[in-house]
Amino acid sequence: MAQLADLRRQFVRQFGGLESDITVFEAPGRVNLIGEHTDYNGGSVFPAALTFGTTLLIRLREDDQLNFASTNFPIAREISTDNLTFREDDDWINYPKGVVWELSRRGIRLTGGYDFLYHGEIPNGAGLSSSASIEVVTAYALMTMEGKSADTVEIAVWSQHAENEFVGVKCGIMDQFAVANGKKDHAILLDCDTLIYELVPFRSGDYKLVIGNTNKRRGLVDSKYNERRAQCEQAVRDLRKAYPDLNLLGQLTLGQYRENQHLITDATVRRRARHVVEEINRVALSMDVLKRNDLAEFGLLMNASHDSLRDLYEVTGPELDAMADAARAVPGVLGSRMTGAGFGGCTISLVHQDSVERFQSEVGLKYETATGLHPDFYVCDIGDGVRQVKEEA
Ligand code: GLA
Repeated sequence: MAQLADLRRQFVRQFGGLESDITVFEAPGRVNLIGEHTDYNGGSVFPAALTFGTTLLIRLREDDQLNFASTNFPIAREISTDNLTFREDDDWINYPKGVVWELSRRGIRLTGGYDFLYHGEIPNGAGLSSSASIEVVTAYALMTMEGKSADTVEIAVWSQHAENEFVGVKCGIMDQFAVANGKKDHAILLDCDTLIYELVPFRSGDYKLVIGNTNKRRGLVDSKYNERRAQCEQAVRDLRKAYPDLNLLGQLTLGQYRENQHLITDATVRRRARHVVEEINRVALSMDVLKRNDLAEFGLLMNASHDSLRDLYEVTGPELDAMADAARAVPGVLGSRMTGAGFGGCTISLVHQDSVERFQSEVGLKYETATGLHPDFYVCDIGDGVRQVKEEA
């Protein structure tokens, strides 16, 4: 973990001026515990913020330039506040640019330009929401710097909108919401239709959440993701024969779906819809079992979620399947599933604390033998959402 003092020095090397004028913000990454591909269907999700994420060092300028730099990527840009357009070769800078664009669309015009230095601890392309973390920390920092109140639910919505409309990725609300509203040792039960949410203490006792990074880059993920969304919309159109006012699959109960599933004419679309409705039900069941502290039952729901994402939604792929299978074979593992969009990225497993070392070596070996890729593991604590860093730790 880079020290803040080093980052401050780097900021001054990059932009000049004084360290004392710098303000610091942080936003985490996120992991989703259960409820996958349900957010854009108006269903519920159960993500949690991580203890690592993006640090942003920021300073107001006297002109109206936006100067973006990162410790992770060589690409830096100086952009005028009146030249906010998406450019492929601006790469990661499109995320913060999209946020400034979104703020001005909402009538929040910046009083001046800013220098921004980003430092990310989230492995890139791992499906742990590095882009949402950049968006949310940017929105929160700018609102704070401009002396405006920064409502974290609004910030999540604005960041999602920036990603949907400026960057062009049609993601749901889950990532930005978790990054903005996470709380230490809590997971977030979020209804993605109403944005009503509850912070649920995640008591895992002797068990640890272990993230396994397949290190398989998620190629073509955006087009496959958008295809799944379109299939869900098709299912809604078919089901309108029974429910003319239906807008989102998440508005159906499992019983209503089962009674009317024959109305979905395409077999693939029917499988997609079944995953969504059953996955939303699994989130509800998870709340019941977690209230009883029944982690073993929660682990089984995690497994069922992965199997459905593999067989019905078809977003896992050989790497995630190999990793989840290897994880489940280790004694002391209650459950294992892919997390995030899929097609590569990470798994999340619930592992007894005495088995964590064995887990890493056995899953690592089996996974590497099966895929030829070297995985990484992170024993994960649940952290806080976006915040200003007031003093150095
Ligand atoms: C990505 C998207 C989220 C969500 C998940 C799948 O992380 O950004 O909005 O749809 O995939 O659950």
